[in-house]
Amino acid sequence: MQSESEQIDMGRALHVAVIMDGNGRWAARRGLPRTAGHRAGLAAARRIVERASDAGIRCLTLYAFSSDNWRRPAPEIETIFWLLRAFLRLETRRLRERGARLEVIGRRDRLPAVVLRIIEKTEAETAFGHGLHLRVAIDYSSRDAIARAAGCVSSAEPSVSWQTMRSLLLRALAGESGEVDLLIRTGGEKRLSDFLLWESAYAELYFTDRMWPDFGAADFDAALDAFRRRERRFGAVPHSLRLVQGGAR
Ligand code: FPP
Repeated sequence: MQSESEQIDMGRALHVAVIMDGNGRWAARRGLPRTAGHRAGLAAARRIVERASDAGIRCLTLYAFSSDNWRRPAPEIETIFWLLRAFLRLETRRLRERGARLEVIGRRDRLPAVVLRIIEKTEAETAFGHGLHLRVAIDYSSRDAIARAAGCVSSAEPSVSWQTMRSLLLRALAGESGEVDLLIRTGGEKRLSDFLLWESAYAELYFTDRMWPDFGAADFDAALDAFRRRERRFGAVPHSLRLVQGGAR
């Protein structure tokens, strides 16, 4: 059993991003409609937000609805938005109690007005939280976000160096949430699906066959454990070689 401070140490300063995949298959295997999978997915999201907050994760980004998800049947889209509203309604008080802050990323101009209203309300009511920074990606496409950020940066700063352009782009895309350290995808597929492409350039990728509705605190901890066992080199040589070579250039 870990102490509270050990638990908080597990996730200190990390940005964890999650592609919550497998709701539909989870439901199909039980002979249920896909919407029942999304409903169970909502409960999983609530569990993981709680666990991330307890583990001292700095930023958690959840991929709830991609811009390509508009291609799904209208009743499924309606259910997902209904669940998103329920999530925000249910979570606001708990997020405040935990000192967490909610931010929604993605396009807002195509969202139903009722969804937009509750997003703005939840963001305002949690704005002063200094604990977990919870980001929920809705109508989100990383390629669109990169194209938009590049357009804004190049019209505001037309003649900057590439290096400055890179930092400005990262700031425009990620704000204070910064680059992704660990990207988890449930549901057995191994792809990024247009999620945080720039911000995940050096993310450690963790794929699990667990369907999202079955993903729990122990699975989240297992992903953090796997992350801690990885050596992050950011293109440099392994740490052990650096010591042997005495930092030779
Ligand atoms: C992927 O499963 C999940 C989604 C498209 C998004 C819906 C997610 C939720 C409702 C979880 C709740 C989350 C929040 C933050 C409210 P899929 O339908 O693609 O599954 P499949 O690959 O098995 O078909």
